[in-house]
Amino acid sequence: MSAVPHPAPDPVQLDELHGRVWAELTRAARDRGHGWRQVTLATVDHEGAPDARTVILREADASQQVLRFYTDARSPKAGQIEQQPQGLIVAWCPELAWQLRLRVQLSLLASGLAVSSRWASMQLSRAANDYLAPQAPGSLLDAAGAAHEGPPAGENRGHFAVIEARVVSIDWLSLQPSGHRRALLGADGARWLQP
Ligand SMILES: Cc1cc2nc3c(=O)[nH]c(=O)nc-3n(C[C@H](O)[C@H](O)[C@H](O)COP(=O)(O)O)c2cc1C
Repeated sequence: MSAVPHPAPDPVQLDELHGRVWAELTRAARDRGHGWRQVTLATVDHEGAPDARTVILREADASQQVLRFYTDARSPKAGQIEQQPQGLIVAWCPELAWQLRLRVQLSLLASGLAVSSRWASMQLSRAANDYLAPQAPGSLLDAAGAAHEGPPAGENRGHFAVIEARVVSIDWLSLQPSGHRRALLGADGARWLQP
């Protein structure tokens, strides 16, 4: 039996493309080496200016069309999301030669079972330290850049939060030697676009 080549050739049907995009997002959430594992999440700040940062894709739920990220509930992006839930995710995968621009509706989950169950499964990992700093992300430090003393780390589980991104539309661009292709996959249908 021959192995299935990866990446497979680009889909030629729009409904097949939608499934392939979600299959790749699901793979990216599990595979540290996938190009879509690190994505750019853009939001709008309190003055209406754009803001963007790299985040790690933790979960992709194709049935709900939802992506999930982990963050510190004190970070500026958390407040931005609560004030303006519309966001944009940009992702490029060199292996696939696919770019995604995802229009998303964001929500911040800072308490409840969805948060505590995820914290329980990661609190002993090295990544847990990202959410245990006594200072909020972006806080001013002294000249040496040293963190000031704060409460014991273990008491700070409350700073761990989950960002949920409900995907509203997908702008897919494929750059292939045989020609570039682009499609818009939205709630009101799918269509090919001029790249
Ligand atoms: C490779 C990489 C991965 C990152 N992953 C995350 C992440 O999953 N969640 C997160 O909140 N910040 C992550 N960051 C840090 C953010 O890019 C950002 O600097 C920080 O969250 C503060 O963002 P804000 O000030 O816009 O809230 C990552 C940064 C890099 C370089």
